Amino acid sequence: MTILNDWQAMYAGDSMGMLEALWNLPDQCARAWELGLATPLPPGRDVRQVVVTGLGGSAIGGDLLRVYGSGRLSVPVVVNRDYVLPQFVGPQTLVFAVSYSGNTEETLSAYREARERGARLVVLTTGGRLKEMALADGVPVITVPAGIAPRAATGYLFIPTLAVLSRMGMLSGVEAGVEELSRHLQSLREKYKPEVPLDENPAKQMAANFHNRIPVIWGASGTTEVVAQRWKGQVNENAKAPAYWNVFPELNHNELVGFQYPPELLQRLYIVILRDPRDHPRVVLRYAVTREIMEKAVAGVTEVTATGRDGLARLYSLIYLGDYASIYLAFLYGVDPGPVKVIDRLKASLAGK
Ligand code: F6R
Repeated sequence: MTILNDWQAMYAGDSMGMLEALWNLPDQCARAWELGLATPLPPGRDVRQVVVTGLGGSAIGGDLLRVYGSGRLSVPVVVNRDYVLPQFVGPQTLVFAVSYSGNTEETLSAYREARERGARLVVLTTGGRLKEMALADGVPVITVPAGIAPRAATGYLFIPTLAVLSRMGMLSGVEAGVEELSRHLQSLREKYKPEVPLDENPAKQMAANFHNRIPVIWGASGTTEVVAQRWKGQVNENAKAPAYWNVFPELNHNELVGFQYPPELLQRLYIVILRDPRDHPRVVLRYAVTREIMEKAVAGVTEVTATGRDGLARLYSLIYLGDYASIYLAFLYGVDPGPVKVIDRLKASLAGK
C-alpha cells in the first residue's frame, strides 16, 4: 500500500503537525482578520507606498498582498526580502515588518532602517527581538499565535495586513472576501485531507506526479504568479526537494527555448500550469500553444484552475492544493514535512558570527 493511503502513518510521521495546521487554515484566516481589526493603527494618513519586509514564509504574504491589492489599492506594494530597504521608503511609506519568530536578522535590520527613515510601521510576529523593539518604540504589534511553522501561518501573517489597510480606508470589500475564503477552504479540505484515498484526492495525485521528478510550476503575471512561487517554496521546505517556477507571458520569451537538452534529464521534469479564470485572454491562448510544445519534451504537463468568486478565495484555492501536495510528496520521499534543519543550522551558524 502506498503511504498516501495510510493516513495514520502520515499523521504519525508529521512531528510538527503540518497536516493539522493545514486543516485549521480556514479558522486561522478568520482569526487573522479579527487580529487585524483589533490592532491599533499607525498614526498619520496619506500613505504613498506599502512595503512588506520579511523572508521566506513570512514574506510570501507580502506577495499575496501585492497581487491581491494590485487591482484594488491605489498605492504600490513592494515586497522586500533584504537587510536594507529601497531608497523611496520614508514618512509616507507604510511598512509591515513580518517575522514569525521575530528573530530573523534581515527583518530586524530592515525594521531598524524603517524606524530611522520615519516610516509608519506595523509589526506582525509571535514575539522575539522584533516584538521587543516594536513595544519599546511604541510601534503597533500584531501578535500571532506561536507553535506552528512560519510557512503554515500565511493566514496570520497576511490577512491582518488586509484588515489594517481596510481600516485605513485603502481597501474595500475585503471582509466578504475573507468570509468566502474561510468557507471555500472548508469545502476544499474535505477533498484534500489525508483520509481521502489517492484515487479520489487531487492533492495526493499531484504529489504522485511530482514523485522522483522535478516540479516546474508556471503561473501568470498578476494572477497566479505568487502561487507558483509558493508551490516551489513548499516543495523545497516540506518535501526537501527542488522545484522551479516562472510566469507567463515572460517565460514564453526565454525559458520555453530551454527544453531541448539534455533530453534524458528533461524527461524528469513535470510541469504544472496554474490558471485563474481572470487570466488575460492572450495568456490563455499561450497556455495551449506552450503545452503542446512542452508535452513532447518533459514527463508530463497538467493544468489546474483556481476556484472561488473573490480573488482571495481563488489565490488560496491553489495555495491549499500545493500545500497539501507538497506535504504528501514529503511522505512519498519518507521525510518529515515539518523540520527545516538546514535553515535552522544556517541561522544558528550566522548568529554566532
Ligand atoms: C520555515 C519557513 C522559513 C521562515 C524564514 C524566516 O517554516 O517557512 O522560510 O519563514 O526562515 O523566518 P521567520 O518567518 O521566523 O522570520
